[in-house]
Amino acid sequence: MNEPLLSIRSLSKHFGGVAAVDGIDLDVPARETVAIIGPNGAGKTTFYNMVSGRMTPSAGQVLLNGRDITGQPPHRISRLGVSRSFQINNIFTEMTVRENVEVALAAFHHHSRRWFNLASRNRPIQEEAESLLERLSIGELSARRAGVISYGDKRLLEIAVVLATRPKLVLLDEPTAGMTPEETRRVTALVKSLADSGDYTFLITEHDMEVVFSLADRILVMHRGKALVAGTPEEVRRHPEVRKAYLGEDDDDQESLSQEAPQ
Ligand SMILES: Nc1ncnc2c1ncn2[C@@H]1O[C@H](COP(=O)(O)OP(=O)(O)OP(=O)(O)O)[C@@H](O)[C@H]1O
Ligand SMILES: [Mg+2]
Repeated sequence: MNEPLLSIRSLSKHFGGVAAVDGIDLDVPARETVAIIGPNGAGKTTFYNMVSGRMTPSAGQVLLNGRDITGQPPHRISRLGVSRSFQINNIFTEMTVRENVEVALAAFHHHSRRWFNLASRNRPIQEEAESLLERLSIGELSARRAGVISYGDKRLLEIAVVLATRPKLVLLDEPTAGMTPEETRRVTALVKSLADSGDYTFLITEHDMEVVFSLADRILVMHRGKALVAGTPEEVRRHPEVRKAYLGEDDDDQESLSQEAPQ
């Protein structure tokens, strides 16, 4: 296993009497993809909110490259190389596809909004935007208004915007939610190629088990705020409690599950 880029130590978040996240430990090795799965309300988004600084933990620590970033504000955590996508599209629909990436790049390079009005004619920013769009296979949509492209392409644009901040750790919250099977395959393949490039470390939440098993090097299964099991996809797939509590499988279904999931 590579050195952990992100280390989570006994992380908890309480809302009144509810322990939304309850003593989670997790290492995310550099350049690997870790998936967090679990039923609705398991605490996945709350976990993300604490890693990205949107929520302050009730207890525990978040370490990035061994440095304690617990409770730091989102902009500082983002500067340190942690970037996230949201379940809902987060793009400017009136701008072109390329301008969406240019705005993110201009912000990353500390340019003011006023400067950005000129930046759309700035060659290095344009080229960087184009190259990111190419990498997400939506280069040909560069001049289209972002509001009119397909839902799957919007999610890819959103990932391009996330990558504009040159993150080391990318948090994806249900990257294939609401997609057609074809869009799901396309986005999964792209995330896989980004992961395989070795440029990024991914933490993903995802309800689609086929996506999880094809992307994840390691999986954490959460249930009611706690870690039910953590391990390789194979270990998780075999775990009896996971089958019962999360996958909703009976013992009789073991055969069909192992056939469905890619090896
Ligand atoms: N801001 C909040 N205030 C109070 N309770 C909250 C808050 N955010 C989350 N919760 C509660 O914490 C628990 C975990 O919620 P969370 O949204 O983290 O789950 P999730 O695993 O992301 O679920 P889903 O798969 O539906 O997105 C739930 O019981 C939820 O009601
Ligand atoms: Mg959620």
